[in-house]
Amino acid sequence: MTFEIKNICCIGAGYVGGPTMAVIAEKCPHLNINVVDINQQRIDLWNSNDFSNLPIYEPGLSEIIKKCRNKNLFFSTRIEEQISSADMIFISVNTPTKKKGKGAGRASDLKWVDASARQIAKFAKGHTIIVEKSTLPIKTAETIKKILKTKKKNLNYNSTESIEEKTFEILSNPEFLSEGTAINDLKDPDRILIGGEDNDAIDSLIKIYSHWVEKEKILTTNLWSAELSKLIANAFLAQRISSINSITALCEKTGANISEVSLAIGTDKRIGKHFLNASPGFGGSCFKKDISNLVYICESYGLYETALYWQKVIDINGWQKKRITNIIIEKLFGTISQKKIAILGFSFKANTNDTRESPAIEICKELLEEGCNINIYDPKVNASQIEIDLDQKQTPNSNFDCLEGGWALSESILECVKEADGLVIMTEWQEFKKINWEEVANVMRSPAWLFDTRLISNSKEAEYAGLNVWQLGFAN
Ligand code: NAD
Ligand code: UGA
Repeated sequence: MTFEIKNICCIGAGYVGGPTMAVIAEKCPHLNINVVDINQQRIDLWNSNDFSNLPIYEPGLSEIIKKCRNKNLFFSTRIEEQISSADMIFISVNTPTKKKGKGAGRASDLKWVDASARQIAKFAKGHTIIVEKSTLPIKTAETIKKILKTKKKNLNYNSTESIEEKTFEILSNPEFLSEGTAINDLKDPDRILIGGEDNDAIDSLIKIYSHWVEKEKILTTNLWSAELSKLIANAFLAQRISSINSITALCEKTGANISEVSLAIGTDKRIGKHFLNASPGFGGSCFKKDISNLVYICESYGLYETALYWQKVIDINGWQKKRITNIIIEKLFGTISQKKIAILGFSFKANTNDTRESPAIEICKELLEEGCNINIYDPKVNASQIEIDLDQKQTPNSNFDCLEGGWALSESILECVKEADGLVIMTEWQEFKKINWEEVANVMRSPAWLFDTRLISNSKEAEYAGLNVWQLGFAN
């Protein structure tokens, strides 16, 4: 028998919780959805009437928020209250890599999941289905179950007696959305994965997704397969990027061209054409953290060869960023101290304001370290975020040219490249594909270089305009 869901609570109003609940709210107007977070500032932004200033930029998101907010979609910090009235609770909190202690740098930090489970144990009432939406190490559901078992009764505050039995079922329902296309991915997913032990609970969640997802796309598995499949999906995706990126260096040495190689191998259906774009390395909050976590898990089971295999995917990613920095320095005659480099794009991919693990961070830090001055332009990333990422305040404009190792945010491409010796395309934003190279070359300092790490520029036009061009994966 399906347990009827009326009230949903989602703990965590981030890149996953916000868009996922927005789409459920839009597709299921009969459900009442409360997204809660400990971060008051984030919640205030979700509730702001300036829809261009939501805490997350995703194409199509603001339209849904406009339509559903305060109708059947609510954002608040009233965590206890919303947990106690929920029939189903999604845990959508952050699970970053641990910074210190056992497993530091590799294991996932589960303190936010642990805290959520404790709050649920304390405040939930009656029967509640808990849905793991966050990406978690395999067997986390077991830990959550243990925490929930400690609070089996609802306390009746008017007496010393416990009166009502609390019951829980746990499902794993990992999220596969990609940032920048989150709304499309949520509305038209390749699959919905639900792992669990209790068929009624599974059916309750299937019923929700069935409002817009075809039944054939909804896969059900045991809890551990669902938890593990999420890590493995990310590991396989990242492995494709490291594979193609490892070949960029070989192309540069031999005269093969990486775009042609990607096309040639990708037309084989068994390989497939997606996710073969060479790049300065994968960024984003998840690939590195999830593979590091996979490596840690394998090691903890004594599976050292498996661990080593996946560790290489991360190693190649670091190597690619370092390699690009070295090439920039080498092309600019071995020294970039007091030279100016324009960085086009700071987010980890196009169509998002997210900079977590963006390859631009490491590359900029190394350029600054060499004494280079950097102008940064990104259509969506603001200066305060870059200050955090580079761990360095923006240099006031008046001082910029006399400094070594300063950075400033530009408002346009042309302002960014003015008097620069080099220009690096870091993110594949649409507007960088349409650059007028004549205009750019006119304002740069000669001899000027274009470094295209995303293969989106018209190199012929740039060369014609007088720029020296280096493209990733081409013999330059
Ligand atoms: P995020 O940092 O953007 O959001 C997490 C939110 O949870 C934060 O706002 C934080 O304040 C809140 N939070 C933490 N502890 C809380 C608590 N006890 N009570 C209430 N709120 C709490 O993270 P995200 O990018 O949304 O990722 C969330 C999870 O989803 C992670 O496990 C991640 O691996 C996974 N995931 C992310 C993506 C993505 O594209 N970002 C895609 C798929 C899966
Ligand atoms: C990735 C996965 O694609 C999602 O399925 C998953 O849900 C999510 O991680 C997660 O678990 O967080 P996301 O990181 O948002 O999504 O974005 P991707 O499109 O996967 O890009 C990740 C990085 O790889 C970006 O830096 C991107 O530029 C890079 N990339 C992607 C390449 O270098 N080449 C490619 O061909 C594709």
